[in-house]
Amino acid sequence: MERDALLALARETALRAHCPYSHFRVGAAVVAGGKTFVGVNIEISSYGLTLCAERSALAAAFSAGAGTVTHIAVACIDAPRHAPLQLRMPCGACRQWLADLAPAAHIFIDGSAMDFSSADLLPYAFSL
Ligand code: THU
Repeated sequence: MERDALLALARETALRAHCPYSHFRVGAAVVAGGKTFVGVNIEISSYGLTLCAERSALAAAFSAGAGTVTHIAVACIDAPRHAPLQLRMPCGACRQWLADLAPAAHIFIDGSAMDFSSADLLPYAFSL
């Protein structure tokens, strides 16, 4: 799937985010083994246990036994149109997931002209 189509899918997926506390909807779309998987952020009453959209999509891909993750698109649809990039970027926990589970992926961020690798987002990542 092309960059723009994957970003469009991430935006559409974000409409299904479960975020009753932050009201900040995030969607992610992952291509793994040639198939596409999506995820949204899921918030619960114990706020710290929130699951981000990126981890949700990666979990869906791995749960399906998909192959290598090649692309991931992330869309924060409630970030104001001209908000700085940091309002759209993966959090630290998601960066570690990307480093472990999608080390070779191309990472597309909605609203960013620049694309990223997992090493761009988490240099010198921890690894076992
Ligand atoms: N969020 C994500 O889904 N992905 C990120 O990488 C950053 C933050 C979610 C978590 C929470 O539901 C909301 O955005 C506000 O932090």
